[in-house]
Amino acid sequence: MSRKLHARRIEGVDKNICFIQEAFCKAVNGGVHMHQYTRAFGHPALVKILAKFYSGIVGQEIDPMEDVLVTVGAYQALYCTFQALIDEGDEVIIVEPFFDCYQPMVKMAGGTAVYVPLKPREGSGPAKSSAEWVLSPEELKSKFTPRTKAIVINTPNNPLGKVYLREELQMIADLCIKHDVVCISDEVYEWLTYDGTKHVKIGKMIRWLYACQQIVWLNVTQRFLAASLPGMWERTVTIGSAGKTFSATGWKVGWAIGSHLILKHLKTVHQNSVYHCATAAQVEHKICVMGVKHMSFHFLTGVTLSPVVLKEAVAVGFQREYDVFGTEESYFQQLPALLHEKRLRLADCLRSIGLNPIIPQGGYFMIADISNLSKFQKSGSTKYSKRK
Ligand SMILES: Cc1ncc(COP(=O)(O)O)c(C=O)c1O
Repeated sequence: MSRKLHARRIEGVDKNICFIQEAFCKAVNGGVHMHQYTRAFGHPALVKILAKFYSGIVGQEIDPMEDVLVTVGAYQALYCTFQALIDEGDEVIIVEPFFDCYQPMVKMAGGTAVYVPLKPREGSGPAKSSAEWVLSPEELKSKFTPRTKAIVINTPNNPLGKVYLREELQMIADLCIKHDVVCISDEVYEWLTYDGTKHVKIGKMIRWLYACQQIVWLNVTQRFLAASLPGMWERTVTIGSAGKTFSATGWKVGWAIGSHLILKHLKTVHQNSVYHCATAAQVEHKICVMGVKHMSFHFLTGVTLSPVVLKEAVAVGFQREYDVFGTEESYFQQLPALLHEKRLRLADCLRSIGLNPIIPQGGYFMIADISNLSKFQKSGSTKYSKRK
């Protein structure tokens, strides 16, 4: 063929997908040890690069052997977290709308889910962007009780696509510190943000009042070290997913990162349930329905590779990102650029059939107000029935 064969949409991304697939093939052919058990809490090459990569981002020295646990997808990281930290009678605050497994996982651990909704900002008319959905600080405050053990934050959020602002996270962080509550921060879509929106990690938040006092002190002593401030690091479990990070959901490799004082409990659950990640295949859940008003749509064409999990390949992927981070070569820049277009196309499709999409600032999902559909039904002669 003389004409260009590949579609525009895969330009610039093909290399990266090939790259991670190659890493995977190399790992499979990498000798006998690649087919045997590895370290229970994470293949050494992977925990080392995760620690190196995220230490720079969190501004906190992360110990690869103590502060990182590699799991069967983010899903198992969540499971270990709830099982390890939640007791009968504990309350766990969950922000609505939420990824569907949080509630049953809390229940299975014997806890009680307490819900607090994100709502469109009052007086701003119908929300067009996930940025307009906010937590009421008063309502959130009212959910904290002496029984509150943890809060689950998901940013960017599935299915709304909301990316929490620094101030919003600071408000949550202050409440966690005040009430001595653990924060479970599900950040599987951290690299998928659009329109210049920046993902902020709550695990790196510090207590502001204290920080200000320290800054004054800094001028005197020049020995200020943010990571050493009392804050969120010591009470946050940050959860990530190689599936979402490298568009390889079938690999089912995830992780939890946090202080070893918390992580050691997750490790106990992990060691006595799956022991370490091995071969596993899972079907990704692609569509979920939120109540009756909104429905969510998935705008990534699922890339499902071999079900064999090889943490070596993910380690190679992260090493490469470490080397090219912040440049155009970075997959973490290329993937959102690709999905940005798909997101706009999906929004146009939804509008063309009379739905009102809420443009997500991050993640894979888009929710749409479907109340127009019931209007059509009530009128008896809907566009859809006319077309039949
Ligand atoms: C918010 C959120 N957390 C966790 C997961 C699970 O990720 P993994 O496939 O790595 O288990 C998903 C998957 O859709 C998700 O949307």
